[in-house]
Amino acid sequence: MNYSAKFWNKIAEGYSRQPIADEAAYQKKLQVTQEYFKPEMEVLEFGCPKGYRFAYGTGGTAIIHAPYVKHLRAIDFSSEMIKIAKAKAEAKNINNVTFERLTIEELTVADESFDVVLGLGILHLLENKKEVIAKVYKMLKPGGVFITSTACLGDTMKWFKVIAPIGRFLRLIPLVKVFTSKELENILSDAGFTIDYHWQPNQSTRKGVFTLKGVFIVAKKAN
Ligand SMILES: C[S@@+](CC[C@H](N)C(=O)[O-])C[C@H]1O[C@@H](n2cnc3c(N)ncnc32)[C@H](O)[C@@H]1O
Repeated sequence: MNYSAKFWNKIAEGYSRQPIADEAAYQKKLQVTQEYFKPEMEVLEFGCPKGYRFAYGTGGTAIIHAPYVKHLRAIDFSSEMIKIAKAKAEAKNINNVTFERLTIEELTVADESFDVVLGLGILHLLENKKEVIAKVYKMLKPGGVFITSTACLGDTMKWFKVIAPIGRFLRLIPLVKVFTSKELENILSDAGFTIDYHWQPNQSTRKGVFTLKGVFIVAKKAN
């Protein structure tokens, strides 16, 4: 198991109890996402756990979206996160979500398998986001969408690039990549996507030196 997987395993229990930083922004993202759903759709979510929200807890976003689609496959490389998410889904009697311990890099599916792919709060945690975005493009059906909410530290916290390796060395943080929202958009466009929806919530999770801005994007594959 690599260091980042160990990190997420270690914090799984606490993370599942963490409040959502900006509930209004979270609600808006849920609503925009659900506008793309249809009852017959197959959905993939990678990096699936979510902080505490009312009674849902980890795995919450998948559980909230489940009633709007046919099936949602939710993967995460932390076995602890998956364990908590599975228990929540069982408690809620949700049976069209499958939670699996799997990395996005390990996942193998036929091309054009999914109508929607969700990658929320995860692209900045990947070593190889370019390859992952290209992989997502292939696994989407024509006209399918990739919905991502990503911390773009390069927009407001460029300095983080310098301290991130130290934080990792000290085992305080997982792998975190620093890039701008523009760079992310360019990678999506290069992969073949067009940007269907773009939203930068006003409220940052923290203010001042730690102004962490995220971008919420719906990227569409051509029909
Ligand atoms: C910030 S957290 C949760 C993100 C959650 N979707 C949200 O919106 O809050 C990132 C999650 O991604 C998982 N993760 C990190 N790298 C991964 C990878 N390569 N494949 C699958 N899951 C990964 C971690 O285990 C962790 O649960």
